[in-house]
Amino acid sequence: MRISSRYNYTLPTGVERGMLRHLTNGKWAPDGDLPEMNRPLWRGTQIGKHPADLLLYHQAIYRNRPDWIIETGSAQGGSALFFADMCELIGHGQVITIDRRVEDRPSHPRLRQFIGNSPHRVIRNAVSALVRGQSVMVSLDSDHTALHVGRELAAFSPLVGPGQYLVVEDAQDPRPGRAYDAVEAFLATHPEWERAPVERQFLVCVTRLGWLRRKAQRP
Ligand SMILES: C[S@@+](CC[C@H](N)C(=O)[O-])C[C@H]1O[C@@H](n2cnc3c(N)ncnc32)[C@H](O)[C@@H]1O
Repeated sequence: MRISSRYNYTLPTGVERGMLRHLTNGKWAPDGDLPEMNRPLWRGTQIGKHPADLLLYHQAIYRNRPDWIIETGSAQGGSALFFADMCELIGHGQVITIDRRVEDRPSHPRLRQFIGNSPHRVIRNAVSALVRGQSVMVSLDSDHTALHVGRELAAFSPLVGPGQYLVVEDAQDPRPGRAYDAVEAFLATHPEWERAPVERQFLVCVTRLGWLRRKAQRP
């Protein structure tokens, strides 16, 4: 429906209204899958991140200059390419992305791909060997069940040094047995970690409740 001929502005469609309603709860897609016209692309590759979250990630990378960014859940490779581009932009850092599915994903000189179950010992050991002694940021975006996220937190959080971030995607989902429960259990037993209010900057984002920071000082 057109509401102003001057600006040629139209009211949101039903799907878009659903997206807006869900965004206020930190959730993006009404049914978990975005219509094609609403899906963002990064350099032509689909990326499963809300644009506001991409700026939050950029700011964290720019500010903290991690030597490595470890991502679980590559999907089409858009987010890994974005992280690698951010590293290129600041002239620092490399990216490891892990997915259990083999797929033709974009390559980048600063990007390495691993195929397998993200928290599996073999993957974890290979990743640890690469990043040992260097500063690490993590984005967990694979299987969002509490069980799996708990395993990923156990596998990758020890690699993250003081002041760096670990982002648990989908932690805003209030359903029991999902990522939020894993985050709560993790924070209850790891006093060296805290929630960071990073996500409040733009009010609307999908990574709500998911930004964790390793405290600079031991508690
Ligand atoms: C939400 S998508 C990732 C989106 C991507 N990070 C982005 O922002 O564009 C989840 C991905 O996790 C992968 N995945 C699910 N379970 C996994 C597991 N146990 N180990 C590794 N990857 C897994 C799926 O194959 C899928 O590609």
